[in-house]
Amino acid sequence: MERLQDKVAVITGAGSGIGRAAAQLMGREGARVVVADFDTAAAEETAALVEQAGGRALPVTVDVTEEGSIADMTAATVKEFGALHVLCNHVGGTNPRTDLDLLRMDMEEFHRAVARNVTSTLLGARYAIPHMIRAGGGSVINTASVAALVGDVLQTSYGAVKAAVVSITKSIAVQYGPQNVRCNAIAPGAVMTPALENNLPDSVIESLRNGNALPYLGSPEDIGHTMVFLASDESRYLTGQLLVVDGGMTMQSSAAPGRRAQLPG
Ligand SMILES: NC(=O)c1ccc[n+]([C@@H]2O[C@H](COP(=O)([O-])OP(=O)(O)OC[C@H]3O[C@@H](n4cnc5c(N)ncnc54)[C@H](O)[C@@H]3O)[C@@H](O)[C@H]2O)c1
Repeated sequence: MERLQDKVAVITGAGSGIGRAAAQLMGREGARVVVADFDTAAAEETAALVEQAGGRALPVTVDVTEEGSIADMTAATVKEFGALHVLCNHVGGTNPRTDLDLLRMDMEEFHRAVARNVTSTLLGARYAIPHMIRAGGGSVINTASVAALVGDVLQTSYGAVKAAVVSITKSIAVQYGPQNVRCNAIAPGAVMTPALENNLPDSVIESLRNGNALPYLGSPEDIGHTMVFLASDESRYLTGQLLVVDGGMTMQSSAAPGRRAQLPG
């Protein structure tokens, strides 16, 4: 049996990167997938990929920073597929060129970051959860980041908003657990998506690779597989958790890479 048979899943930001990979993996597992993105052509491209592989997909144009747009996305989902069981609040991020250290960070960018990461997550869940309760339960999957867990020299806004995503995750889990709605978050480490490749110099990407316990950086599918697990009933006893999927980046001592060289032989 397919792992997501009979489930309807909405994925925001599914036009690219991790969201696209998750849409393809969920489609392969039998979910009917709503591919939501503000890039209409990208959403249509992802939906076509899902359908070419034998899945069902509906492309929807959404701007998750607009409440009316989230309401329309939710309504379009239920109109097309009759239910909503899984919501991946995946859109997020900040502009690394203006999201700097505390004294130099652009406050306009901070407010945009709150809208893109926090308000979008909160409102996405607010519109989806009544449908999940009607369906007898559901799973909200929020995309946080390892930036929620560690301090950094820049991207002050990014760390703050992703920490807020983790907090919202726990509130939802507590508040709607009794109605069988689960809510978990994923903290990806460095994942090779257009967002990362286009914004970071090669030297930084190399240092990220060296900072992992595993000898490689993540692929979109590495996070997509975790999303499939959280969407499926295999994770039915898991709620309010942050799954850190980072190749061992945040759990290893900062001394470890250097000390490796001290090992005999
Ligand atoms: N790539 C990484 O290394 C990494 C690490 C940690 C967390 N994340 C998180 O993963 C998420 C997405 O990252 P990605 O690497 O897949 O990015 P990506 O740039 O490949 O894809 C993001 C998609 O979101 C869409 N989008 C952007 N703003 C939108 C809006 N307002 N409304 C609707 N759609 C919008 C874009 O059109 C794009 O298709 C973000 O929440 C990011 O913080 C990524």
